[in-house]
Amino acid sequence: MKKVLIATDKPFAKVAVTQIKEVFDQANYETIMLEKYTDQSDFVNAVKDVDAVIIRSDKATKEVLDAAKNLKVIVRAGAGYDNIDLQAATANNIVAMNTPGQNSNAVAELAIGMMIYMARAKFNGSSGTEIKEKTLGIHAYGNVGKYVAAIAKGFGMKVYAFDPYVAKETIEADGVKAVATVEELYQKCQYISLHIPANDKTRESINFKLLSKMPKGATLVNTARKEVIHEDELKKIFEQREDFKYLSDVAPNCAEELMALYENRCYFTPKKMGAQTSEANINAGIAAAKQIVNFLEKGDKTFKVN
Ligand code: 3PG
Repeated sequence: MKKVLIATDKPFAKVAVTQIKEVFDQANYETIMLEKYTDQSDFVNAVKDVDAVIIRSDKATKEVLDAAKNLKVIVRAGAGYDNIDLQAATANNIVAMNTPGQNSNAVAELAIGMMIYMARAKFNGSSGTEIKEKTLGIHAYGNVGKYVAAIAKGFGMKVYAFDPYVAKETIEADGVKAVATVEELYQKCQYISLHIPANDKTRESINFKLLSKMPKGATLVNTARKEVIHEDELKKIFEQREDFKYLSDVAPNCAEELMALYENRCYFTPKKMGAQTSEANINAGIAAAKQIVNFLEKGDKTFKVN
């Protein structure tokens, strides 16, 4: 009997786990759960004899993948796979996959929710502002960016996007104005919503130079990865501009410092929660389970990333 490990430090909703298990029951696979584990060594021990693994933001390091002697496939139930050591996966002949698009709406709703929360002064009773007619720049027009744009248009925002990998026509077909350079996006937009992955090109790429181009009332919304922000330069922009606000799903390393100095201008979720909805957990979890069965039974490598 094939064994599948679901290793989720931040567990899926119960309803999602039930449905994921059903997929494996039907395939006659055993499901092993490792939730809310306290030490990375728990993950290393749990992978030892399994055929497949589902993870979320859990760290599939070289140590984990080297220990997984029987592992054939690891699926990140979600979009970003910066938490998988792809080199180690390939070296161990393990196929790595993600489930693009499955949790995107949940992340997009959080991005808009955080924008409104800040625009309305954290619901503290004082007078705020509206997001209607404000300019919003979508930095990277992938699955999440598209949803953010669609929701923002419903709120009457003026939506712009920059994405060098998506054709202008594709962006503009959604009623979103495509801009040619990243600088132009930041120059035009009071709100910027980040949807770039964390990789060697993007790490610390959101810097002082770019942020200082934003117009008055600048608000940066980060539901992507904290690593894409240049934190020293983020502190500098907070120091130099009294109007600058930063909202992030997952606190930056300098969160305590920022909260102490600028509590009214920043908000950080206590735990990464963009994809923390039953719907997203069901969609991404079931997609991951089906991809595992299709790979192990038929060799289907759709959404392979290594
Ligand atoms: C993703 O990359 O899909 C999101 O960041 C969600 O991450 P999570 O599954 O850890 O909530």
